[in-house]
Amino acid sequence: MPNDNGGSPVLAMATLAGEIASCRKCPLCASRTKTVPGEGPVPCRVMLVGEGPGRKEDETGKPFVGRAGAILSGLLEEIGLSREEVFITSVVKCRPPKNRSPKRDEIAACMPYLGLQIAHLSPEVLVPMGQVAAKAILEHFGLPFPSYREVRGREYGVPCNAGDRELVIIPVYHPAVITHNPPARSALEEDFQRLKTVLRASR
Ligand code: URA
Ligand code: SF4
Repeated sequence: MPNDNGGSPVLAMATLAGEIASCRKCPLCASRTKTVPGEGPVPCRVMLVGEGPGRKEDETGKPFVGRAGAILSGLLEEIGLSREEVFITSVVKCRPPKNRSPKRDEIAACMPYLGLQIAHLSPEVLVPMGQVAAKAILEHFGLPFPSYREVRGREYGVPCNAGDRELVIIPVYHPAVITHNPPARSALEEDFQRLKTVLRASR
């Protein structure tokens, strides 16, 4: 694993957060207030990945603290997880202006940070939330992304630690989906129930 921290994932994650704080690798650096590297236990069993920081996240430097964050907290609670037990981050670490989706080049510039976070945290379950995260993460692992409709709700197993164990990837809806599509709530809840089932099976 590439780090200069004597193998300590805690130090490696702190170093990475420092690098992200001064990163200027894509145009999103120009309009950000704070970078949002993510937060949670190091290492972690469950890693949740959104699209990118919104206004409140940009102001505070913390992931999922706005409206989508409140929905996410509720979904986690329903399956018996607290926010403190999971690592939460996003594909891009700086807020896209007016909350637009991050562009292909911005995702490509930022993806190495997420790749290193996954390596340092070595989660059992990786949960991309929404289309942007699903595409970025499946492609990062060399998996096909035919369409969001086809991948959301599926489970993928990828070998990690030199084939030593399996990382399970579960693409789910983004919590914010219900703010513009309230009937999607049941599908969103089903997604999180699937996460619960996978976690139980891996104990
Ligand atoms: N939506 C995201 O994808 N990430 C956040 O941090 C907040 C909202
Ligand atoms: Fe760097 Fe990522 Fe922020 Fe772009 S979004 S400036 S790549 S940290």
